[in-house]
Amino acid sequence: MAYAWVRGEFVDDAAASVSVFDHGLVVGDGAFETIAVLDGRPFALTRHLKRLERTAEGMGLPAPKTEEVAGAVTELVHMNGMRFAKIRLTYTAGNAGLGSGRSGEEPLTVVAMQPIEMEPASTQVALAPWPRNERGILAGLKTTSYAENVVALAWANNRGASEVIFANTVGNLCEGSGSNIFVVKGEEIFTPPLSAGPLAGVTRDLVVEGMGASEADIPIADLFKGEVTEIFITSTIRMVQGVSRFDDRQLTPAPGPVTAAAQEYFSRLVGRDMDP
Ligand SMILES: Cc1ncc(COP(=O)(O)O)c(C=O)c1O
Repeated sequence: MAYAWVRGEFVDDAAASVSVFDHGLVVGDGAFETIAVLDGRPFALTRHLKRLERTAEGMGLPAPKTEEVAGAVTELVHMNGMRFAKIRLTYTAGNAGLGSGRSGEEPLTVVAMQPIEMEPASTQVALAPWPRNERGILAGLKTTSYAENVVALAWANNRGASEVIFANTVGNLCEGSGSNIFVVKGEEIFTPPLSAGPLAGVTRDLVVEGMGASEADIPIADLFKGEVTEIFITSTIRMVQGVSRFDDRQLTPAPGPVTAAAQEYFSRLVGRDMDP
């Protein structure tokens, strides 16, 4: 049995319950974070809690009680004793009834955990035929309204890819369903700016800071040209993962040398600082 934290209490996760009127359940009105537990400790908790605050603010939800949540996360990690796991922190608008309108109820906070396997060093991704709307009301926010990602990811999985990558409405590279994307040209590393619509990934920020990557709008057509020699994706769970196939383009070897250097940087970072 594993514990979850629901409405301020530690409960058996299999028996935990939330209301059928919860607005997160009814219309996806909520924010969330996924935090990695590496070697029994949560990674980058402070950055994740800051982003939760930003998402809540961007959605017009009350500010989450991040100190209390941080304490719950630490305690839950201890209680569950999982060495490699994902923590899912969900913060919804609370019980607002069955319509789209909010009713100013107390938000609901849930923290749950699940063991994970380490991801392979490289993977295959597919290019989505649907755009990411960089001008949408939820652009850049980590909301529980993720059905678009779910459907696109299932589409990619059916094509043998483990991730789906979106261009934005003007045909520039944006992000994956649950990851950010980087391209390598020569020795230089580039990633789309936040104005292109991606989430400000915690892993993305750490790689930009540590590897000196630059932000640039990248036309999606560039990813099929020889000047892009490597592609990699980043996320809390994938960390830094090389791309061996982008749609119908093979990129070998994957991970390439620059991607391998980013992977090396990231694993050294995890080794020396669990809350960078
Ligand atoms: C849409 C989207 N983009 C990017 C990311 C990567 O962000 P992070 O590195 O904070 O996990 C995620 C995380 O799951 C995501 O859902």
